[in-house]
Amino acid sequence: MPVAVEARHLSKTYEHRGGKTEALTNVDLTIPAGQVYGMIGRNGAGKTTFVRVAATQLTPTSGTVTVLGYDILRETSKVRARIAAVPQESRPLYFLNVDELIFLYLTIRGTDPRDARKRTDAILEELGLASVRKRLVHMLSGGMRRRAMVAMVLASDAEVLYLDEPTTGLDPIARREVWSAVRRAVRDGRTVLLTTHYLDEAEALSGRIALLEGGQVRLEGTPSSIRDRVHQPYRIVVSGVLGRSELESFGTVSPVEGGFLIFAREAPARELALLALSKGAKVSLGPVTLEDIFLQVVGKSIDADDTSEGDGKEGGA
Ligand SMILES: Nc1ncnc2c1ncn2[C@@H]1O[C@H](COP(=O)(O)OP(=O)(O)O)[C@@H](O)[C@H]1O
Ligand SMILES: [Mg+2]
Repeated sequence: MPVAVEARHLSKTYEHRGGKTEALTNVDLTIPAGQVYGMIGRNGAGKTTFVRVAATQLTPTSGTVTVLGYDILRETSKVRARIAAVPQESRPLYFLNVDELIFLYLTIRGTDPRDARKRTDAILEELGLASVRKRLVHMLSGGMRRRAMVAMVLASDAEVLYLDEPTTGLDPIARREVWSAVRRAVRDGRTVLLTTHYLDEAEALSGRIALLEGGQVRLEGTPSSIRDRVHQPYRIVVSGVLGRSELESFGTVSPVEGGFLIFAREAPARELALLALSKGAKVSLGPVTLEDIFLQVVGKSIDADDTSEGDGKEGGA
């Protein structure tokens, strides 16, 4: 399978007044071409740093990255011609309207004006932006502005697209519009590197997923292979009758509203379900979700913020 982005032993350390922050440590990743590659992780995990390095916006401290076989440091202009990126903190040209923003971006990239016109119209339609096309970018709501930036990148003819949290702050309908535009980009044979902290989004779109935590890849693979590798692939929710101490021999127990959630291997999961049913408790048994996997691997939920000290990492800026 052709490779879109390949990182080998990639590390990035930021030096700043407060000291150093190791944002990426010895990351090896192979992003196949022609699919969505989902990168998930909590705030500060290193997702944006990875994207910025792969987009030639940031120099790695060590290691190599190639994009479609071109080295980001030695063949930067070749890489740049083949990628398009929506930065997480995007500052679009506020004095343009939405239509001009997209059209200009495409023509600057070298798209023929007539083709750029067609692409602009199509993407505005697809992302539900047609009604605001004449609105100045700086007059848009945050969500609309984000959508305009995503539109710009998706409308381009770049082979590799970097979308850094493209749906953060979007309403559910707008999110779905972005999802279908991303799916279309992939159908057209392009590669999308998508970072997100919405696990449902990662699961819905991605051919493969990498879970980053503390600047390292903690899990990587297709959604189903990731499931196969977790230690306790079943989730059981038990409400009533059984107490925590009776549950602990079956797996890892945590309290949830109205009962307990237990992560377990297959045999104890069945056993527990039968026991709970025989005692008249309410039980549900199923495979773990990506959210459960995240919790098992990282020990914290994806929305948990590391504002606490003492985990050995520098805090944010
Ligand atoms: N320009 C910077 N200077 C110093 N530290 C930074 C800078 N950008 C990011 N960091 C730090 O690097 C780590 C990774 O950040 P980032 O790549 O933005 O993670 P994510 O996108 O997953 O939230 C965090 O600890 C963050 O505080
Ligand atoms: Mg980020």
